[in-house]
Amino acid sequence: MRRILLPPFDRESLLGMLQGIAGATIASLGLSALLGCEGPQSALDPAGRAAEQIARLFWKMAVGTVLVWLAMAGLTVYAMRGARTAKEGRLAKLLIIGGGAIVPTAILTALLVYGLAMMPNLLARAPEGSLKIDVTGEQWWWRVRYRPPNGTDVVLANEIRLPLGEMVEFQLESSDVIHSFWIPALGGKMDMIPGRTTRLALEPTRPGVFRGVCAEYCGTAHALMAFSVVVMPKEEFDRWLDAQRSTAPEPTEAVAIQGREAFLTHGCSACHAIRGTSADGVIGPDLTHVGSRMSIGAGILANEPEAIRRWIESTNKVKPGVQMPHFGMLPPEELRAIAAYLKSLE
Ligand code: CUA
Repeated sequence: MRRILLPPFDRESLLGMLQGIAGATIASLGLSALLGCEGPQSALDPAGRAAEQIARLFWKMAVGTVLVWLAMAGLTVYAMRGARTAKEGRLAKLLIIGGGAIVPTAILTALLVYGLAMMPNLLARAPEGSLKIDVTGEQWWWRVRYRPPNGTDVVLANEIRLPLGEMVEFQLESSDVIHSFWIPALGGKMDMIPGRTTRLALEPTRPGVFRGVCAEYCGTAHALMAFSVVVMPKEEFDRWLDAQRSTAPEPTEAVAIQGREAFLTHGCSACHAIRGTSADGVIGPDLTHVGSRMSIGAGILANEPEAIRRWIESTNKVKPGVQMPHFGMLPPEELRAIAAYLKSLE
C-alpha cells in the first residue's frame, strides 16, 4: 500500500494540541458563564416576549456551534495521526468539499430561514390603542415622552417604566447623531436615526428592574448613555404615570427651599424644566420628578444627594464630553442645597 508523506506529529505536539483544544473549550465555556447569563442587562435572562425568542435563537446557535466545533476538533486530532493511505487521501478531498462547502451552506441556510421567520414577530407593531412612548436619543441621555391612549402626555428622562404583560410601542428618534435603543432583557435593539422615526414594540413578561443602553457609538460619552427600565403591575404603573403627570412637589425643608432659589437664579432653568416652577428649559432632561428616578446622569450615578452634588459640581469629570457645563464655581453650600432640592422632587 502506497504511503502519502505528511509532516509527522510526535506524541508531545499531539498532546500539546489536545491540551490547547481542551483549554480553549473550558475558557470559552467559563467566559460565557461569567459574562452575563444573568442580571438586569442580560439578553440571556429574558423578561420580554421578543427577548425570549432571541435567547432561544442564541441557544440554538450556541449548540450548533459547539457541535461543529467538536467535529472540527475531532477531525484535527484524526488528521494528526501521521502517515495516510491513498484511500484516506481521496476521503480527505471529499471531506473538504463536504465539510468546507456543503455542510456550512446547509447550516447557514437553515439558520437564515429560522432567523428570517422570526422577523415578522420581532418587528410587529403594537395593537391599536396601545401605550406609545417616544424616546429621543440625545448626546448623551434619553428624552422620554409617554403618550397614553387616554390622558395627557408626560415628559420625563432617562427612565422608562412599563406595565407588565402589555405591548408598548416605542417611537424612536434622534436629535443629533445615530443612537441605538436597546433593553437587552426585553428585546432587540433599534437604531435611532436623525430625521426618521423607527419603531419597536416590546412586551415585558416579568416584573423587575432592568437596564437599557445605547448600542451604537455616538460620541465621547456613548458608554455613559444608559437608562433604567422598571416593569411593574398595571395598577402600580397607572399610579406611577399619574404621579409623573403632576407638577413638582413644593420643597418643605429649609435647605431644599434654598436649593430651589439657587436653581432658579443660577440659570439651570435655561436648560431644564421643573413643571410647577418658572423653570421651563427644554435643552436638557426634564427634572420635575427627578428625585424619584433610579439613577441620575443617564444611568451612571446613584440618585442620592451627594451624587447629585458631585454631578452638578463636575459634570465634565463624571461624564467627559457632556454638554451640561459644570458648576464647580458655586459655593459648596449652594451645590448641596440644589442637590437636596432635586432629590426632594419625587
Ligand atoms: Cu448614544 Cu451611543
